[in-house]
Amino acid sequence: MTEPTILDVDTIEAARTGTRLGRRVVVFKSTDSTNDIAWQYASNPAHDGLCVLAESQHKGRGRRGRSWHSQPGQSILASILLLNEDIDAEQLTLTTAVAAAEAIGKFANIPARIKWPNDILINGKKLAGILVEKKTIVSRHNFVIGIGINCHQSREAFENCDLKLPATSVAIETGQTINRNQLVCELLASLEHWLSVDIESIVHRWQQLSALLGRQITVESNNQTYSGFCRGIDPAEGLIVQLNTGPVKIFPAGQTTIQSID
Ligand code: BTN
Repeated sequence: MTEPTILDVDTIEAARTGTRLGRRVVVFKSTDSTNDIAWQYASNPAHDGLCVLAESQHKGRGRRGRSWHSQPGQSILASILLLNEDIDAEQLTLTTAVAAAEAIGKFANIPARIKWPNDILINGKKLAGILVEKKTIVSRHNFVIGIGINCHQSREAFENCDLKLPATSVAIETGQTINRNQLVCELLASLEHWLSVDIESIVHRWQQLSALLGRQITVESNNQTYSGFCRGIDPAEGLIVQLNTGPVKIFPAGQTTIQSID
């Protein structure tokens, strides 16, 4: 394996292909959370599309109050600021999941799948996670899209971690050390593309990339467990499951965790 490169603002700004996302990039050697840094830029409309990156985080946040751990130089820890965006957080998570799965799959040539709502899996193991945060200021909806991608970790790196789902990295799955600057550019381009696409096309692509569609799953929602067959997604309402007890139930992302996929 080749030596990993460091994250570099000039390389990313020169290589990015879009017009909105990554117009400005900032890289921190270490910070508490890149999402917090991105929010500090939200008062200036010129910062729309900003991408904050860090080599490590001390207080990385995950979904549902969980922590997101990272060792220096091993991951992509990115936060993208979207200002005055007319979208809801669930739809933005769906859009980001499609964009991230597509970017990772294409870049590393591996079959990335979406575990609704916010995990990206390779071979059933978690490679990346998404945390979308929203703040509304005088009817303008602002978002920070946080994405963590495991890139260079070895198997041992995950051994003593208390993980809900087995984790993996691009290096474990492909045996390759990737250029993280290039993957950041691929991710920004993919997200910019999917942000410009109609919701029907996003749902269609989600169906192709989903780890859940057509599978027997068990979900936990509001402290109850349900099992059934995943029939699809309603972008506004949530995951559509044909319960084994008969009825169809829709599970909203905010209160639901997928416990198993059979
Ligand atoms: C999850 O799987 O629960 C979501 C994880 C999101 C982690 C990323 S890393 C960059 C950004 N900054 C954070 O504090 N969290 C997100």
